[in-house]
Amino acid sequence: MRVGLLTGGGDVPGLNAAIRAVVKVGEGRHGWSIVGFRNGWQGLAEGNIMPLGRQNIRNVLSVGGTMLGTARFHPRVSDGSMEDVHATIEAERLDALIVIGGDGTLHAANKVAETGVKIVGIPKTIDNDVWGTERSIGFDTAVTIATDAVDRIHTTAESHNRVMLVEVMGRHAGWLAATAGIAGGAEVILTPERPFDIDQVVRQLKHRHRAHASFSIIVVAEGAEPAKGTSMSYQTELGQFGEIIAGSVSERLRVEIAERTGFDARVTVLGHTQRGGSPTAADRILATRFGVAAVQALREGHTGVMTALQAGEIRLLPLAEVAGKVQYVPDALLDVATILA
Ligand code: F6P
Repeated sequence: MRVGLLTGGGDVPGLNAAIRAVVKVGEGRHGWSIVGFRNGWQGLAEGNIMPLGRQNIRNVLSVGGTMLGTARFHPRVSDGSMEDVHATIEAERLDALIVIGGDGTLHAANKVAETGVKIVGIPKTIDNDVWGTERSIGFDTAVTIATDAVDRIHTTAESHNRVMLVEVMGRHAGWLAATAGIAGGAEVILTPERPFDIDQVVRQLKHRHRAHASFSIIVVAEGAEPAKGTSMSYQTELGQFGEIIAGSVSERLRVEIAERTGFDARVTVLGHTQRGGSPTAADRILATRFGVAAVQALREGHTGVMTALQAGEIRLLPLAEVAGKVQYVPDALLDVATILA
């Protein structure tokens, strides 16, 4: 069997662990040839191949990023790239694909699967917003990095009696903000799921600073927005590819809070530090389990499916069910994030 493998969308720590698992089990156990494609779907459309044998995956388990490279590129019928994908699959005599990616890459995987290509997807994203899986590769590492950053900001916040805003990634869902906020003991946690009322945030800060502390930490997701009809109007700033302009919501909040409270306020945007460096043990294990399960799924003849973690077990979900949906933070977790304020 010849299997193509690619990683698409934003990189995350743990991708190399998944690649390693696919190669070790696919080639080592079953004698398959694993053909790597550089830079996600773009590499598949362009036929940009990278050899992926046992010798290529030594010492990659603990290394962040993706040895295959990645890109935000989706094959489309309209621009001919879907045809290019099929041409490469034929030229390389591929029997199936394993595609590791977030919502965009898996959505594309579903479209490609609909054209008759055998595909198994593996979810990765530090945003943890791929629908149907409790965890995606990269999330645990990002929470660990963000929590460490909040801990560090705590000591300087306290020394200077400041309000410190820490912006974390999370365009549609506030998993990172909620979990790193809880783990880091933030006073205010702002997520896209629950649009905020600036007056309430200001009341909360003033009360705290009057009653029991001289500093506060606010963890804010990059996609957080004020509730409609409240006294702050702001719309998420987007770049030319629809990406969020990092730092815009937190900088705007800093100005509002400083003006409305008179407190000294500062912003730290964690940005891509959250996606960098070595994966945690939990991400290495999840990535390895997903990689092994993807190979097993192909062996059992599954196609158009994604590996998912549910109640501690790895299950297979139809890509068609996952595509286009967002996994939001459940209310119960958001309640915990706000109840300690
Ligand atoms: O999709 C994952 C993510 O890390 C988002 O949280 C963030 O908005 C985006 O990627 C940043 O993308 P880029 O690396 O292309 O700037």
